[in-house]
Amino acid sequence: MNILILGGGGREHSLAWAVLQNPKCDRLIVAPGNAGIEGIADCADLDIEDGAAVCEFAVSNAVDFVIVGPEAPLAAGVADDLRAANVLVFGPSKAAARLESSKAFTKEVCDACGAPTAAWARFTDTGPAKDYVHAQGAPIVVKADGLAAGKGVIVAMNEADAQAAVDEMFGGAFGAAGAEVVIEEFMAGEEASFFVLCDGTAVLPIGTAQDHKRVGEGDTGLNTGGMGAYSPAPILNDSVADRALDEIVKPVVAEMARRGTPYQGVLYVGLMIENGRPRLVEFNVRFGDPECQVLMMRLGAQALDLMLACAEASLADARINWADDHALTVVMAAQGYPGAYSKGTPIGGLDELPEDSKHMVFHAGTAKRDDHLVATGGRVLNVTARGGSLAEARNRAYAMADRVDWPGGFFRRDIGWRALAPKL
Ligand code: AMP
Ligand code: GLY
Repeated sequence: MNILILGGGGREHSLAWAVLQNPKCDRLIVAPGNAGIEGIADCADLDIEDGAAVCEFAVSNAVDFVIVGPEAPLAAGVADDLRAANVLVFGPSKAAARLESSKAFTKEVCDACGAPTAAWARFTDTGPAKDYVHAQGAPIVVKADGLAAGKGVIVAMNEADAQAAVDEMFGGAFGAAGAEVVIEEFMAGEEASFFVLCDGTAVLPIGTAQDHKRVGEGDTGLNTGGMGAYSPAPILNDSVADRALDEIVKPVVAEMARRGTPYQGVLYVGLMIENGRPRLVEFNVRFGDPECQVLMMRLGAQALDLMLACAEASLADARINWADDHALTVVMAAQGYPGAYSKGTPIGGLDELPEDSKHMVFHAGTAKRDDHLVATGGRVLNVTARGGSLAEARNRAYAMADRVDWPGGFFRRDIGWRALAPKL
């Protein structure tokens, strides 16, 4: 079959890598792709948030199946447009994508079906929001309702910071995303992510992961899109996963179906786990980046069969082959990230690295310039490895990262520390 993947980061490179291992895939196109993806698939220049353009491209290229990587096309309704054009698509409708694009909507759905999450309230004006913060006290969490590229959440450890966050959000710091503000109880515990495929009714867990959001070692410094990840997440053991499935995922999926907006796609369930009890922090309506890279490393070719079963609503009959393995990815970022960083710095050494079912360097922000590879983004490479233990996966990934010749880049040396001995 002919397959189109929308997106151009490390997540999409890993999706492309897994899909290509499946003999069902005849032709793979990725839009827009990047320099790494270009080496394994056709890349197309396409505005992936323009539903009409995506449909026209899919039809004129005889595409049988579209996999949507990032949230923006989903929130824009591109999956709805493809379904209307009779193109099979992996990814939720615009209405179901509200589970990521509106935090208040998600909290309301949780309340309607009894899914455990932080106590909350929603506000459209500064005064009542500030009164609520004062009445609740700190620590407390202030969130812009809409999509803010992961930046619209302030975990305030004192009341003054929380009040400042309220002012900042209603002051327009996050644009339209902050027109409504959600204020939540602070949840203590350890965070982990649970990935579940949903076909509207049936659900199938496909793995767990933990990522490192802070830029600095020891999980310090500024927040980023993620500096590394590993799978599985030891804290999210079978008993926690079962609880999360029974108490959060199944009730939410049933509630979405009841509302006439069934959820189809991968549900990224961000959990806070305390004493074996999972509570929902957030949903994302797509694979995480870089969590997808470690999941794809472990799933390999079957990822395509699972995504197809999801899109065809036959998940109840699908089976997943679990291997007793571990994967870890180290993000190499441009120096300065997540602040200002320079673009166009040259990257060498990748050609000498192993590329097999245990070793892959997924590209996130790269381009070819006069036959040289250069960095074009903040997060640039995802050095990913698999092993029989997390330590083995970690050692393989760092052995590769150390051989990448990129003076303009940096990486954390402690990815996986919570799950390994906290030293390197
Ligand atoms: P979100 O975008 O909703 O995932 O929030 C970003 C990050 O803020 C999460 O990954 C958590 O680390 C933190 N966070 C969000 N909500 C809460 C909460 N209610 N309690 C504690 N930490 C939170
Ligand atoms: N790594 C976090 C995310 O993709 O949202």
